[in-house]
Amino acid sequence: MAGGFIEKGSSEKNYPGKLTFRVFITCVTAAFGGLIFGYDLGISGGVTSMDPFLKKFFPDVYAKEHNIKPTDNQYCKFDSQVLTLFTSSLYLAALVASIFASKVTRAFGRRLTMISGGVLFLAGAALNGFAQQVWMLIVGRMLLGFGIGCANQSVPIYVSEVAPYKYRGALNMLFQLAITIGIFVANILNYLFAKMENGEGWRYSLGLAGVPAIMIIIGAMFLPDSPNSLIERGQAEKAKKELIKIRGTNDVDEEFKDLVAASEASKQVKHPWSSLFKSEYRPHLTMAIAIPFFQQLTGMNVITFYAPVLFKTIGFGGTASLMSAMITGGCNALATLVSIFTVDKVGRRKLFLEGGAQMFICQLVIAAAIGSKFGTDGNPGVLPKWFASTVVVFICIYVAGFAWSWGPLGWLVPSEIFPLEVRSAAQSVNVSVNMIFTFAIAQVFTAMLCHMKFGLFIFFAFFVIVMSIFIHKFLPETKGVPIEEISLVWENHPYWNKFVKSSAQKNKIAAPDSQV
Ligand code: BGC
Repeated sequence: MAGGFIEKGSSEKNYPGKLTFRVFITCVTAAFGGLIFGYDLGISGGVTSMDPFLKKFFPDVYAKEHNIKPTDNQYCKFDSQVLTLFTSSLYLAALVASIFASKVTRAFGRRLTMISGGVLFLAGAALNGFAQQVWMLIVGRMLLGFGIGCANQSVPIYVSEVAPYKYRGALNMLFQLAITIGIFVANILNYLFAKMENGEGWRYSLGLAGVPAIMIIIGAMFLPDSPNSLIERGQAEKAKKELIKIRGTNDVDEEFKDLVAASEASKQVKHPWSSLFKSEYRPHLTMAIAIPFFQQLTGMNVITFYAPVLFKTIGFGGTASLMSAMITGGCNALATLVSIFTVDKVGRRKLFLEGGAQMFICQLVIAAAIGSKFGTDGNPGVLPKWFASTVVVFICIYVAGFAWSWGPLGWLVPSEIFPLEVRSAAQSVNVSVNMIFTFAIAQVFTAMLCHMKFGLFIFFAFFVIVMSIFIHKFLPETKGVPIEEISLVWENHPYWNKFVKSSAQKNKIAAPDSQV
């Protein structure tokens, strides 16, 4: 997940170190981690809208889609729990794997977790690409999910440990950019493969997920273990040698000393999980749950997963649906760039609030457009030209709003607000809550569309209002705040100050700057 631990401008300390080849390989591998995740987010919706795929694996859905008359209710034509299980099973598996992977990461290092992730991912892609029956699809998706769970747990941690101090912030955002590029590539490939005459294009869409998997396996083989992980596993000597190589200088004493101290400090906290439930960590636990919950309740993944299905439901042809998904995928990737360049200038809160307002307006326009043409009986009659372009344009503006607010910030903010002693536990809560709600939205979308009709967009718009109020009232600005001083933003917050301990009290367990 894009949840690396970033310390933008986070210390007066200035450890020497260059962008070495090792660091470069790390970034490339991390990018493949993001691409893999994005590819899976983006591929399944297009595939489930391809007729040959539906005919082979979900003949009932196919029959329902094709036997429906233009005068029938269109909202329910894709309503099938098995069909959505094809998309959602991945996130359930990823949830299980990320819990399990955190143990592997600690005991055997980040590299092994990444390699295992890549291998599981490759197996899943192969099973999907060669699938003959539905169970092969679902098991394949679960293997991909296990792979993603492993990669998302290990890659961001590894990156933030190995990357030179000053580049961590940018790298964290780059991970989200890689996710959106993965989604976009998946949209383009779906569009191209759907045109294959033999009707087997979906096999290529699903099977090609193996390419980034092979890359991540090869990349991880060349990666050294991170110094932090070596220290954690009692190999301090080796860790120092490694740090010298990674930084490209012998002048690493200060950083090494801090790494050891950080590792000691995190060992002092015997029960990070139960600590997290103490009242002094109330703001952190609240954010670890609320931010990923709200991120998913923006409704973005309805577009990520099901844009082609949605476009088909509202009357677009198969090719137009895949083409429109490609357009929204492109907007997502481009708008993510905007947040990379603005987040440290305008701050997190402003982006959250602006993005929220933008999404809210678009959701209302989309609901009104679909409502005015389809009503509640889902019977559109003849669709006018303005309809298609209005829907696509407003979906794009909505996607852009998400892409420069809740998309990247949903990962960035949690990664910078947790104090060291509970960072690892809080990050696990954050990833798990995200996966649970990603799963839930993926699973219930077609049923929600069938029952709530155009009101689905009003439902998400309502949550966008709630989350914007939440941000306005409860989230302190963290722009430019050194991570060691992050507790100050809570102490100075008009609501949270009654929960957190003051700095003086906290100094006893002062957390040296480090990760996990
Ligand atoms: C979210 C995903 C979403 C993606 C879309 C990520 O930050 O966690 O659920 O699909 O952004 O760009």
